[in-house]
Amino acid sequence: MEGSQRNGNLVFAVNGERFELTCVDPSTTLLQFLRYHASFKSPKLGCGEGGCGACVVLVSKYDSKLNRVEDFSVSSCLTLLCSLNGCAITSSDGLGNTRDGYHPIHQRFAGFHASQCGFCTPGMCMSFFSALINADKGNKPDPPPGFSKLTSSEAEKAIAGNLCRCTGYRPIADACKSFASDVDIEDLGLNTFWQNGDSKETKVSKLPPYDPSKNLVTYPEFLKNESGTHLDSTRYSWFSPVSIEELESLLKHSVSENVGSVKIVVGNTGTGYYKETQRYDQYIDLRRIPDLSILNRDCKGIEIGATVTISRVISFLNEGTDVNLGSYGEMVSQKLAQHMQKIANPFVRNTASVGGNLAMAQKFGFPSDMSTLFLGVDATVSLLTIHGQEKLKWEELLARPALDSRSVLLSVWIPFKKDGNFLLNFSKFLFETYRAAPRPLGSALAYVNAAFLADVSPHRNGVVIHSIKLAYGAFGTEHAIPAKTVEKYLTGKILNVKILYEALKLVKLNVVPEPGTSYPEYRSSLAIGFLFKFLYPLTDVDSTVSSGLFHGIGETFVEDSSKSNNDDDGDTSQGKTQTILSSAKQVVESSTEYYPVGEPMKKYGVSMQASGEAVYVDDIPSPPNCLHGAFIYSTKPLARVKSISLQHESKSLADGVIGIITFKDIPSGGENIGAWGQFGTEPLFAEERCEYAGDRIAVVVAKSQRSADVAARTAVVEYDIEDTDSPILTVEEAVERSSFLQGPLSLNTEPIGDFSKGMAEADHKILSAELRLPSEYYFYMEPQTTLAVPDEDNTMVVYASTQWPDYTHSVIARCLGVPEHNIRLITRRVGGGFGGKAVRNMPVSTACALAAYKLRRPVKIYVNRNTDMVISGGRHPVKVTYSAGFKSNGKITALHADVLINGGISDDITPLIANHVIAALKKYNWGAFSFDLKNCKTNLTSKSAMRALGHVQGSYIADAITEHIASILEMEVDSVSSQNIHTYESLKLFYKDSAGESGEYTLPSIMDQLVTSSRFVDRRKTIDEFNRKNTWKKRGISRLPIVYEVTQYATPAKVSILQDGSIVCEAGGVEIGQGLWTKVKQVIAYALSLIERSWSEELVEKVRIIQIDTLSLVQTGYTAQSTKSEASCEAARLCCNILVERLTPLKEKLQEQNGSVDWTTLIHEAEAQQIDLQAHSYFVPDSSSKKYLNYGAAVSEVEIDILTGQPRIMQSDIIYDCGQSLNPAVDLGQIEGCFVQGIGYFMFEEYLTNEDGLMVTNSTWTYHIPTIDTISQNLNVRVLNSGHHKKRILSSKASGEPPLLLATTVHSATRAAIREARKQLKSWDKLEESDSKFYLDVPAIMPVVKTTCGLDYVEKYLETLISKPST
Ligand SMILES: Cc1cc2nc3c(=O)[nH]c(=O)nc-3n(C[C@H](O)[C@H](O)[C@H](O)COP(=O)(O)OP(=O)(O)OC[C@H]3O[C@@H](n4cnc5c(N)ncnc54)[C@H](O)[C@@H]3O)c2cc1C
Ligand code: FES
Ligand code: FES
Repeated sequence: MEGSQRNGNLVFAVNGERFELTCVDPSTTLLQFLRYHASFKSPKLGCGEGGCGACVVLVSKYDSKLNRVEDFSVSSCLTLLCSLNGCAITSSDGLGNTRDGYHPIHQRFAGFHASQCGFCTPGMCMSFFSALINADKGNKPDPPPGFSKLTSSEAEKAIAGNLCRCTGYRPIADACKSFASDVDIEDLGLNTFWQNGDSKETKVSKLPPYDPSKNLVTYPEFLKNESGTHLDSTRYSWFSPVSIEELESLLKHSVSENVGSVKIVVGNTGTGYYKETQRYDQYIDLRRIPDLSILNRDCKGIEIGATVTISRVISFLNEGTDVNLGSYGEMVSQKLAQHMQKIANPFVRNTASVGGNLAMAQKFGFPSDMSTLFLGVDATVSLLTIHGQEKLKWEELLARPALDSRSVLLSVWIPFKKDGNFLLNFSKFLFETYRAAPRPLGSALAYVNAAFLADVSPHRNGVVIHSIKLAYGAFGTEHAIPAKTVEKYLTGKILNVKILYEALKLVKLNVVPEPGTSYPEYRSSLAIGFLFKFLYPLTDVDSTVSSGLFHGIGETFVEDSSKSNNDDDGDTSQGKTQTILSSAKQVVESSTEYYPVGEPMKKYGVSMQASGEAVYVDDIPSPPNCLHGAFIYSTKPLARVKSISLQHESKSLADGVIGIITFKDIPSGGENIGAWGQFGTEPLFAEERCEYAGDRIAVVVAKSQRSADVAARTAVVEYDIEDTDSPILTVEEAVERSSFLQGPLSLNTEPIGDFSKGMAEADHKILSAELRLPSEYYFYMEPQTTLAVPDEDNTMVVYASTQWPDYTHSVIARCLGVPEHNIRLITRRVGGGFGGKAVRNMPVSTACALAAYKLRRPVKIYVNRNTDMVISGGRHPVKVTYSAGFKSNGKITALHADVLINGGISDDITPLIANHVIAALKKYNWGAFSFDLKNCKTNLTSKSAMRALGHVQGSYIADAITEHIASILEMEVDSVSSQNIHTYESLKLFYKDSAGESGEYTLPSIMDQLVTSSRFVDRRKTIDEFNRKNTWKKRGISRLPIVYEVTQYATPAKVSILQDGSIVCEAGGVEIGQGLWTKVKQVIAYALSLIERSWSEELVEKVRIIQIDTLSLVQTGYTAQSTKSEASCEAARLCCNILVERLTPLKEKLQEQNGSVDWTTLIHEAEAQQIDLQAHSYFVPDSSSKKYLNYGAAVSEVEIDILTGQPRIMQSDIIYDCGQSLNPAVDLGQIEGCFVQGIGYFMFEEYLTNEDGLMVTNSTWTYHIPTIDTISQNLNVRVLNSGHHKKRILSSKASGEPPLLLATTVHSATRAAIREARKQLKSWDKLEESDSKFYLDVPAIMPVVKTTCGLDYVEKYLETLISKPST
């Protein structure tokens, strides 16, 4: 080889640029290199676990023998840099960028409104790009011009592992599907390319052109002759043996020479789960050993080398072959491939090896799917140990002690079996695999997985089981296990219902989760459900034979009517390719009254968000000398810290630690203050004792973020918990011990009517019923981040990802004991906030500033995801006890609610929540309504603002009460809720300050319109029919209204016109993805064009909105509570009014002089005439109209699977009143994204704490926000334009939070489906209590749904069959 490669250097290319490193720490990940060693900021760090996709890039490898380039997406946060020797890396800004022009993927993401905060977008684009180019390299027929060979289904799956917290995925799916050759262009959603009435051909022609033949060259020529070379292992401690013999000698040498710690490595994805804190002496990369990358199959079986990636195995198993695999081989290949497609996500599967997975399962007890699959097919493995090679059953290896670090799995062998060994050649092997996980398409570990293999043949009395293998895994067991007693019991039996029933009883005894496993009974019942699903079709021999037993039994089980367009993986069903999301409709009604306000313009800066050039705090180049901080937090409540010791092992990855910062480092004159939420303060660090688990004890400062993180994670804190009280963790304990927050209970609402009288009028009463709502974590994609840079004269510039710049600024100044003018806080954009970066960013920014102040060096804190989840608090848990009176016809006469709010440790903004809960509760006319609220102080992290603070709890409670009433009266929930919706008269009574004019009360008409647009009545009938026909799937539908009261707050703005006529605005609100900048831009263009209307389009292009700088614009307030966009618009409009007033006389004069005038001339002249071209204003809302109501309604339909508890949201229809939307595309994005976040709260996101109150679902492994496969499959949204509202800002209404409440319909529809399941049980005489009276927890995760249906549903079903008299 030529050049420097001969020296064994690490050579690779990034976006076409060559890099050659003479030495590098082998534990360096690709992401660390890209972001911190080089300056490629496009891939983002969202989790560091392989679980979010923000860091995805494309890796291209060159195979010189085949002269072929392999391109695949990877999670750069897990991929080790040394493993990329000779590879090329492409990040989103390498696809296209501001200077060279954007790639059509960027352009289409922008035009389909598929990016809001933008933090997920570069990773999304790269996941999609990888699928796109690979499809186009394939040998499918050429697509029509402008399209790719990719199908719509593949386009969706390409992004199935990428998380987005803002958009709700639908527009992202549309942007991706717009490339697909089979897309129906009419199915794609709102975009900036098309106009109403465009023909299909015109639409295609208007899309940013895509030509597969002009795809980017991902692998540069110059790298081709450097692709196959080796690193100098002495310099990198990185060994890449090329044969098993070399590997063996390396391992032996490492023992004989006592080399120290050795790490066998392939994809390194295991570190997403088992986080590394140690440094290894040697890395041994197995991927260059040809014997370990083999993939062979013949009529005897399949051999898979240990380093083969899961993606490669899937495509191999799916590829056609000339080899006759036999029916067994075909079946096993197909089932294994289908199952493996649900392991992890595409960008992990692309590097995750089979051997790595099995090693993790064998060594560490990882809840693996592979392990169960291979157990099920009776696989054999080849193993290399220090004593030599051996072959043994995978089952045997699992039973051995954990392999040591020098034992290497070489390959796996799946033996094929031959049908027809028994009984006149009629016997047949059946093989099925199962997996129940929170996300059907993967990206979530299974609660239980299973692989079953049975050799059966028909017999005159049924089906005889000759042999059976039942492998179960991931259920809370050290390893996957064969259910031996069940296997033994079933072997030789002729299957019938009774035998199956007995076998299932044995499963319960065999599949027993270990103590400490969550939902043990649910997991056992899943295990039972899987075997039932496998064997039940065989209990009825006639129908089994006729319905094709011998073509596999999975299909025979599925009930006809449920086999709709929602098969798990969105694959082919009845020959037609199915997509995950079916066609969605968006109706947006805009107005031209204030043009260009009202235009569905694309979001400002969206293309650069897609390319990854948009700058977030961590993208700001770190100043020289910059240090990094990480929090050490308490894991115990009410504990005194005796000591903190950092682990100083030489092998620790935590090198370069500078020290720790605690409360003792607060300068004299400063305060131990970390947050201030209007009502009270919170200390930055614990002093005497930690008050709660998650309390901040210290910040470790080190030379790199990784070192700081590892040091914090491995720090040992010694606590003294003697003589301390027991912590208060629940609201009940708080009430008992009178522990309440000090802040005012800012209730400005009076009770309505006379509760006792209302109760007296009632025919029925509910007394003291209870319900609870849990917390929720924000999951903004950009974790909390701050960079603090000390400046001259004790001043400091702080770059913070905050929603509350001015208060954060004040807290920093107070902590440091300096005047506020010493601090300048700058916020450009925030990668998602959802309320969590208002108060909760303050401690992060303050700690960062304190460290920088103390050390006199710049310090950055980029809070890692796990710590962020623990310390950031979240939504307020609420408990309500209610009593209600109602008539027999469902009319409610009285409600009293006692609401206990768990505020955690500090006031934060909790005092605000009471008003919100009550305001939302009032959405129905309760007749008389009284309430009592208490803000409980507990030893938990402070609960804070989170999107739809208090409203979501209040609205849900209101709906749960009407459902309760309906269940007592045995009425339709819809009939009870709709008859208690307000009339305008009762609305005025309940919402004295905000009801507005009668014409503005659009809710009743929205409810009516929704019945028609969602075909509510017809669908109810169809659902009834479905439920009658199906035993194991049930559906429910729900329609609910929302009434959402918002308040406007004072907001400043500054608008300046520069000499060339370009305009710059400092808006009071922060751009957090909600499109605030875009709306402000449109309003400025409208407002300045009052000088000359024809200038509006030109003006909109001239406006730039810039970062908030707290010394330039004061009193910004917080960007929260839905109204900051409109308030910022109004403040900017007021500035423009001033400028218009100054400029209009000049314009008229110039026009008179010259006949016409343009904007640029006007500004030149104004400059010359010394007209002040900068205006500042402070919008203070009118107290009489600052509160107003927002209305909307939704219908959702949900199907549940009784066997697994899995819900599927079949369809949601939303109508939401935006007044005259300022930008209907932005508002639509808010509505959809908000709704999907609500789905997360009600259905998926489990916020769990341990007995100390410590948040334990603190990773992407355990906290599941919605993904593309868990949202509404069909989401239809109408952004209603309800006309002119004279008291609203340019007639607009809010959209940022209210639609979240509409997701209650999903929960309610799930409940309706469960009700059907329970009704069925009742019809079998197997439900003792009433079928309708039950409470469904939030979130209604799978274990909850199944438990509410009945964990022993299957057994009860079989008992019913057994007890039936035989005919
Ligand atoms: C986000 C995410 C989701 C996932 N979801 C699932 C899931 O749903 N189901 C599932 O089954 N798995 C899942 N996984 C696990 C994934 O399959 C494994 O991480 C991967 O297969 C490990 O392969 P690797 O090449 O990256 O191993 P590495 O990370 O390189 O190695 C993992 C461990 O195995 C050792 N090792 C590697 N190869 C060998 C070998 N040949 N012999 C001996 N030891 C070896 C290493 O020393 C290390 O200890 C998930 C992983 C991630 C990151
Ligand atoms: S940051 Fe790599 S997957 Fe989340
Ligand atoms: S746009 Fe996807 S996370 Fe914000």
